[in-house]
Amino acid sequence: MAAGIIGTGSYLPSLTVSNQDLEKIMDTTDEWIKSRTGIERRHIAVEETTVSMAVEAARLALENAGVSPSELDLILVGTISPDHFFPSTACEVQKALAAENATAFDISAACSGFLFGLGIVNAYMAAGMIKTALVIGAETLSKLMDWNDRGTCVLFGDGAGAAVIRRQDEGILSMVQGSDGGRGEVLTCENRKVNNPYRKNPSDLSFTAMNGQEVYKFAVRTVPASVDEALMKAGVRADEIKYFILHQANIRIIEAVAKRLGQPIEKFPTNLQECGNISAGSVPILLDFVNRQGKLQKGDKIVLAGFGAGLTWGAAVLIW
Ligand code: COA
Repeated sequence: MAAGIIGTGSYLPSLTVSNQDLEKIMDTTDEWIKSRTGIERRHIAVEETTVSMAVEAARLALENAGVSPSELDLILVGTISPDHFFPSTACEVQKALAAENATAFDISAACSGFLFGLGIVNAYMAAGMIKTALVIGAETLSKLMDWNDRGTCVLFGDGAGAAVIRRQDEGILSMVQGSDGGRGEVLTCENRKVNNPYRKNPSDLSFTAMNGQEVYKFAVRTVPASVDEALMKAGVRADEIKYFILHQANIRIIEAVAKRLGQPIEKFPTNLQECGNISAGSVPILLDFVNRQGKLQKGDKIVLAGFGAGLTWGAAVLIW
């Protein structure tokens, strides 16, 4: 038996902010952003929240799969931008869906959150613990940005993507996951500082900070290596893969990965032009775009891969 994706959904905030819009509020240019990253627009939450977007994506994924909320045994949400410390986003999604039979919890693995969620579902299904699961990646990254730091805020966007997974004959063939906490300082966002009657701290807000060049080097090394390993574990050749659905951080990273894997760039769909980097939301949103364009047929082999803060990375080979 395997863990197979049987439905996808996604939600993007209604406000679209173009590079030209950003030129009006900070010292940047469309040319700088597009040439270094490929990003042209991103969706920014105004009324939406991490939970509201997660719920919309989940509803669409359930509808796409023909599954009712009461059939869900497990709800996982990958997020680094929850609305609350607690309850978890996953529990809030459970409440909104009335998915009363599910266990629900969040995963903090940044841009690898969806891949780590798939890994957990895969293991639970292999152990016979669950039959049907919902994995969501949902982010409101705009609230974690310093909008005075043009080096980071132009790169990210808000949104959510979801997939329904069922224990069935075909699905995930292999999974690779990893972390390197020793290099975590290259991409950070501080939480509240210790602040209590015994240790007084000013509760200053902190935002996303990144060493872009180090993250770039990490990505172009780690993503091809993890995809290669996942392919080897699955016993599948790269040329048998129809689509490589990668985390959408930067077009140059995707081009470098395609080159290292020796695969044509046409096999690497992108939506970063439209969305920017949505961390855990990125892979499931792109998967939903590709699915809804009718580009996936039963039996197709695809690769999903993510990388990000932690540092963390994950790759999966699966049969659609
Ligand atoms: N608009 C205009 N200029 C900008 C800018 C912006 N939005 N952001 C930074 N700059 C400037 C810098 O101030 C710097 O100017 P200086 O040379 O006068 O000091 C110059 O552009 C170059 O900055 P640098 O950071 O060296 O650029 P880069 O070529 O490394 O590109 C990234 C920056 C972020 C696009 C690139 O490093 C990258 O994509 N890294 C990976 C990031 C990533 O994927 N993160 C997500 C991981 S999940």
